[in-house]
Amino acid sequence: MKSKGEKVKEALEHGRNTFTGKSYSSTYKTLLSHRKKLPVYEQMDEFCECFSNNQVMIVVGETGSGKTTQIPQFVAHLNSSQTEGKITVCTQPRRMSAITAATRVAKEMDVTLGAGVGYTIRFEDRTTPRTFLQYATDGALLRGDVHEQTLATDILMALLKGLVKKRRDLKVIVMSAATDSDKLQRYWNEGSAIKVLTFRVTCRTFPVKIVYTKEPEPDYIEAAIRTVLTIHYTEGPGDILVFLTGAEEIEEACIRLENDEYLKTSGIGPLVCIPLHASLSLQEQKKIYDPPPPPRFIGGPPGRKVILATNIAETSLTIDGIVYVVDPGFSKEAIYNPRIRVECLLVNPISKASARQRAGRAGRTKPGKCFRLFTEKDFQSELEEHTHPQILKSNLSSVVLTLVKLGIKDLVRFDYLDAPAPETLMRALELLTYLAALDDDGNLTSLGTIMAEFPLEPQLAKTLIVSPDFKCSNEILTLAAMLSAPVVWRQPRGQQKEADAAKALFSVPGSDHLTLINVYNEYKSNVHDKNWAHSHYLSLKALSQADKARDLLQDLMEQFDIELVSESDPQKLPGLVSQALVCGFFMQVAHSVKGSGTYLTIQDNQVVSPDPSCALGAKPAEWVIYNEFVLTTRPNIRTITEIRPEWLLNYASNYFDLKYFPDGPTNRALQN
Ligand code: CDP
Repeated sequence: MKSKGEKVKEALEHGRNTFTGKSYSSTYKTLLSHRKKLPVYEQMDEFCECFSNNQVMIVVGETGSGKTTQIPQFVAHLNSSQTEGKITVCTQPRRMSAITAATRVAKEMDVTLGAGVGYTIRFEDRTTPRTFLQYATDGALLRGDVHEQTLATDILMALLKGLVKKRRDLKVIVMSAATDSDKLQRYWNEGSAIKVLTFRVTCRTFPVKIVYTKEPEPDYIEAAIRTVLTIHYTEGPGDILVFLTGAEEIEEACIRLENDEYLKTSGIGPLVCIPLHASLSLQEQKKIYDPPPPPRFIGGPPGRKVILATNIAETSLTIDGIVYVVDPGFSKEAIYNPRIRVECLLVNPISKASARQRAGRAGRTKPGKCFRLFTEKDFQSELEEHTHPQILKSNLSSVVLTLVKLGIKDLVRFDYLDAPAPETLMRALELLTYLAALDDDGNLTSLGTIMAEFPLEPQLAKTLIVSPDFKCSNEILTLAAMLSAPVVWRQPRGQQKEADAAKALFSVPGSDHLTLINVYNEYKSNVHDKNWAHSHYLSLKALSQADKARDLLQDLMEQFDIELVSESDPQKLPGLVSQALVCGFFMQVAHSVKGSGTYLTIQDNQVVSPDPSCALGAKPAEWVIYNEFVLTTRPNIRTITEIRPEWLLNYASNYFDLKYFPDGPTNRALQN
């Protein structure tokens, strides 16, 4: 008798498409020949056996071994022959990875994207009732779409761990790159009667030689550029992957490399720089798969591709052909500090596990080299063993709201893979209580119930829900959509001045929020002009995402009878929008420090500067609310709107009760 794996293999390699009944296309066959070379493909038989005999399994395999693209397909095949109507859902930590995986797999399976194979991300659902394989962000699956991307994975896993005990027909596969598999195994076995099996994908990887610097590098961008050029001059063929921390650094390094004099004049082969970070369009991101540039002339020295990437290239994306990795040893992360209630973007040293993962990117197709821009001694003594999980570093207010909605009462003893600090949980509960989403006993209020249904951070959800009272729900809806989309401002290399001038045209003095609403309205009035966004230094991709988000949020508003209204007097509207914002963001207020150009945050007396990008008027506003607090080199506040202090007392009286407010400059300012 044929084994389950043999049957799947036969369905994939011969006959007709199980899912469409049609014969396979030539694209299918070409892709199949690639798939056959993937490590998981070779272990299909073993996998199918394990899957059939276990309710929960952990699959451990190197990045690029085929976990994301192949395993869900195997499962879909196994399900198709066993039970009708089962759906296979594969969760992804990022929107980008959900879309690319679904697109790739639809092609591999010879089915239409959005029909048989689809994806669901925040503000976009491309599935139908006939979808049998769905890629979804963990956040979208949790519904409330908690803000922090990878945070939802932890929560989802804990919920699934509870659920598998009750739903014996539900199967769970946890897939992971090798580093943390022991911890996962322990977690799933703890307090659970269900046997959990670990399945290891055997990967062929090639050795990677690690090269350290002799001395610490004072400027890692400079050092990275120097290393790329040295590799290009002295090493054999193969592309280069450089890890930097953010879009700005990447763009800067690209410019410097492209303008290197020696490169232009020495007759060495051409070097093409490809940036890779989350704010690029899908089309721009696809450039990483382009072949390296040809020699400058026939028979000339070969060209080389250098990809300058953020952490996305560490685990989420596989780029073939990389032989050299340049690793400065840093990454940028959002870290929440509950003591000062601030989420900071910080450039931090990576962990040893991350450094190993990065080096591994060089040994996928042949032996490679990894140039670490730090000393071996620093690697051994300074880097931590593992990267701290996101849940330990995040503001948990969205997550807590979701958990309360799901009926989880005891937040402290919830079965977290990594339990967050009690202080962080407390801060989240405090915020939700001040927002009136929770009552004093920690129960969801009717307002909180509606807030939990909106895929927005709690402060913004609250603002939107109360906005009809201020006759500006149309405007707040637009704003919520714009804040949910990626940054709309484009800053092409070398066109800073033009971009700033274009931005100034939309700017509403004293309010970044009103500026964003203005941009959206202008975009809608010019939607027929295909070139409009581009020529105004705006990102069409971001604007159309905002548009989609707006539709979805509007549907939700209708569902909860939240009226869509606009004040007819254009003079009054800006003030009303700002007042509605105060109802949600009253805990993010700052007061100007006379004559210094800086502000003091009300909550924790932190000295902050408005980000240079802010639309502050000629006369600095005395009181502002802000959306983001960013700690880069020094504390900055971004997305700012001027407010009046009496609004704080009017709309957030339970928070701004002067009696309980600690004595200090704020209290004095508010009393005046
Ligand atoms: O999930 P895991 O990192 O184990 O691997 P995967 O994402 O399933 O990718 C397996 C292979 O498919 C990669 O090594 C690529 O060669 C290929 N792939 C691709 O060519 N294009 C994609 N969009 C995704 C995967």
